[in-house]
Amino acid sequence: MQEYHEFLEEILIPEDVLQKRIAELGKQISADYAQNRDILLICILRGGVLFLTDLMRQISVPLAIEFMGVSSYGVGGRLSTGHVRITLDLNVDILGRDVILVEDIIDSGHTIAAVLEMLETRKPASICVCTLLDKADRREVFVPVKYTGFSIPNKFVFGYGLDIDDYYRNLPFIGVVDLNKYKP
Ligand code: IMP
Ligand code: MG
Repeated sequence: MQEYHEFLEEILIPEDVLQKRIAELGKQISADYAQNRDILLICILRGGVLFLTDLMRQISVPLAIEFMGVSSYGVGGRLSTGHVRITLDLNVDILGRDVILVEDIIDSGHTIAAVLEMLETRKPASICVCTLLDKADRREVFVPVKYTGFSIPNKFVFGYGLDIDDYYRNLPFIGVVDLNKYKP
């Protein structure tokens, strides 16, 4: 396994900047949902896990968490096509709940658009999207995003939940991959 320094082009978002922005998002969500009885945060596995665990500590309204696994068929694993398959479904009924979908990154938008469409048929009281990163230039389908941590350029990033071929999720910052130096 390659050591990440060998292919790190730059640190795009350092740990302290990430944590400061996540605290702001938590405050915003707490204010927006102050009148609600509780909320349900649904994390899309696996990239959203680090973001979920930091974000939930910054939210002051009562909340529950759930996990959902999806895989989107793509070419070479880095492109999604909109054909989304559930690999792990929710354990609870979301009927009448106020749901926030917690995502690591929205790229083409196909994955989250398909998940939203699927969950809306289960009649939550409300459902919205909270993403840490947004690559808006790459969007192929419209996705209503209520909360965005950072808008980022069209570069392949890793760390803080985001993987390259399933590794490097544990790094506490968001880095850019130099694809000429990364050896798959
Ligand atoms: P979308 O369906 O194209 O929006 O794809 C979103 C998914 O692709 C994310 O949940 C990530 O798993 C993955 N992804 C997109 N861009 C990146 C990236 O720059 N680094 C790591 N994973 C990414
Ligand atoms: Mg991935």
